[in-house]
Amino acid sequence: MHSSRKGSDVLVIGGGIIGLATAWRAARRGLRTALADPAPGGGAARVAAGMLAAVTELHYGEETLLGLNLASAARYPEFAAELADASGGMDIGYRACGTLAVALDADDRLHLRELHALQRRCGLESEWLTGRECRRLEPMLAPGVRGGLRVDGDHQVDPRRLAAALLAACERTGVEICRSRAERLLVDGDRAAGAVLDDGTELRAGQTVLAGGSLSGRLAGVPQEVLPPVRPVKGQVLRLTVPAAYGPFLSRTVRAVVRGSHVYLVPRENGELVVGATSEELGWDTTVTAGGVYELLRDAHELVPGITELPLTETLAGLRPGSPDNAPLLGPTALPGLHLATGHYRNGVLLTPLTGDAMADLLATGTLPDIALPFSPSRFSAARQEAYA
Ligand code: GLY
Repeated sequence: MHSSRKGSDVLVIGGGIIGLATAWRAARRGLRTALADPAPGGGAARVAAGMLAAVTELHYGEETLLGLNLASAARYPEFAAELADASGGMDIGYRACGTLAVALDADDRLHLRELHALQRRCGLESEWLTGRECRRLEPMLAPGVRGGLRVDGDHQVDPRRLAAALLAACERTGVEICRSRAERLLVDGDRAAGAVLDDGTELRAGQTVLAGGSLSGRLAGVPQEVLPPVRPVKGQVLRLTVPAAYGPFLSRTVRAVVRGSHVYLVPRENGELVVGATSEELGWDTTVTAGGVYELLRDAHELVPGITELPLTETLAGLRPGSPDNAPLLGPTALPGLHLATGHYRNGVLLTPLTGDAMADLLATGTLPDIALPFSPSRFSAARQEAYA
C-alpha cells in the first residue's frame, strides 16, 4: 500500500554533491526541504579527483562556461568555511595548491601553447615554463618534460569529504533525507508535485529539483520534452598512496595530454595520490578494465616515473553526467514546479558552490541569478523544437 507524507516546499531528487548542495542551501533559506536518494553522498563524486580546474580545463567555444566555472571557484574558500560550520567542523580538504600542466613531446607542447594563447585571450593567469623550470617546481617530473603551464589559481578539494560534509550539513539544517530511490515524478494537472519512491511513499513538494547526475534523463513520469539530454561518460580513476616515509612527492596537481588523452595526478595532504581519468562513451558500463588501468599508469609513469613504486590502493569507475554542450542544465523546465540541476559533466565538483546558491535563489525567489541564465534547460528545448520544425 502506498503511504503519503506531509509535503515539503522542495524535494531534491538525487543525493550526489549537486543535490546535497542544493538541498542544504535551500534549507538555509528557510525552505522545508526533502531529498531522495538510496545512498546519499555517493554518485560521481566518489570517483572524482576534485580538481577545481577552470583555467587548465578551458576549451575552445566554452567561454560562457568559463565565467560560471571561475565564479564557482572564487566561492570555494567561503563555501568551505560555511560548510565546516554547518557540518559541525568537517574539513573538505580545500587546498590552494595550484596546477602544473606539462608537455612531453612536440605535439603536446603545441597543444599547450594553444591552450596558453586561449587562456591569455580570456584574460586568465598562466605562465609558460621551460622543462627545467617545471622540474625545479616538481622534481619528480620526468627529465623529458618539454615545457609547461603554471596555473596558480586551479586548486583542489577532496570530493568524498565534500560529499560527507554536505550530507552532515543537510541533516543538521533539517533536510529530510529519504534513503530510497525516486521511481516516478508526481504530476498534478500541469504541475510537478514531488515524486513516488520505490517503497511506494509519495513525497509531495511545491517545487521539485531533478539532480540525478547521469541518471537524470531516466526518471519515469517526466514528460519527454522536459527530460534532460544527459548521458553517462565513463571515467576510470586510480588511487595510490605516497608513504609518509617517502618525503615530498608532488606539491601541486600535475597534468598533461599524452597522445591525445588527458592524465592528471592530484596529490592530497594525507598522502593519497589520485590518477585520472579515462573518458569513455560506453553507456552505463562501470567496469574497471585492464586497458583503462594500463593507459592511466602508462601515461602517469611517463609524466612521473616514480609512481611505479607507490602502493595502488583503489581502482574505480564512475559516470560523469555529460550534456550536449558540456555545460550544466540549471533552472526551471517547461513543466511548472520542475527544475533541473544536472549535466555538470567534468565540472561537478568545481560547480557545486555556485549550483547550490543559484538553485537556492531560484527556489526561494522564483528567479535564477543572471550568471546561471545561459545554462537554462530551455536552450535544448529550443534546439529540439527547431529539429522537429
Ligand atoms: N574534471 C576531470 C574529469 O572529469 O576527469
